[in-house]
Amino acid sequence: MSAIALYARWSAALDDKVRMAQQRLRAAVVQHGDGLVQSSSLGVEDMVVTELAHQAGLHIAVATLDTGKLHAQTLALLPRMAARYGREVAVFRPAEEQVIQFVRREGEDAMFKSIELRKACCGVRKLEPLSRMLAGRSAWITGLRREQSGARAEVAFNEDDGAGRRKLSPIADWTWAEVWAYVQKFEVPYNPLHDEFMPSIGCAPCTRAIAVGEDFRAGRWWWEDSAKECGLHSHEGSSR
Ligand code: ADX
Ligand code: SF4
Repeated sequence: MSAIALYARWSAALDDKVRMAQQRLRAAVVQHGDGLVQSSSLGVEDMVVTELAHQAGLHIAVATLDTGKLHAQTLALLPRMAARYGREVAVFRPAEEQVIQFVRREGEDAMFKSIELRKACCGVRKLEPLSRMLAGRSAWITGLRREQSGARAEVAFNEDDGAGRRKLSPIADWTWAEVWAYVQKFEVPYNPLHDEFMPSIGCAPCTRAIAVGEDFRAGRWWWEDSAKECGLHSHEGSSR
């Protein structure tokens, strides 16, 4: 069943939320200029943010981290975005030599062996390329929402990322129903895996579908009891 049919509900508050999110993006462009980048996982929230900027006539660079473990359905969004928005998403990949050495040392399924190894894999495949993505930037835009998890309940629209940059989350206050209502209204392209009960999509080995009643992020690193974060947002809550 399609995620739109399941979740989309345009709320009375959403017109205002759209306007406010676009205002935040506009202010970010004014303040940061070329120092601004949207870090997109190609998940539905990030697709909404890209569309919001486009609808507001803003030209914000979009970049993604291709860990080498993404689903084909995720990567298939890249040409669709290039066609729709008239420019390429910048793709940052891990350093090949680091991946080869990590896999040789720890195995292709290292992430399942311990939390330490899982985090080490995220370090090589996400955090190192993220540091290159953010080099020379003064602010980055995310699709984080407060509703996504307890750890994200305090996400601010504009916060310090702990590394000297601003981290902007223009749809932090949106609900899941509002995200899908916006997708429906503007026919925003999205990952078809969202229609297969994967609300939160990361790397293929570390993402599964959720069952009715399960938490939003239950399908991420599902074999772990805690953590559930890869380190991209380790400074959550450092708002000001
Ligand atoms: S994660 O920490 O668990 O991986 P999640 O998938 O919820 O994060 O995404 C939260 C935000 O982190 C996204 O809205 C996006 O801004 C950023 N992000 C996550 N994964 C990527 C990625 N592969 N490339 C670029 N940005 C990403
Ligand atoms: Fe590795 Fe899984 Fe982290 Fe992707 S999410 S970088 S495959 S541990």
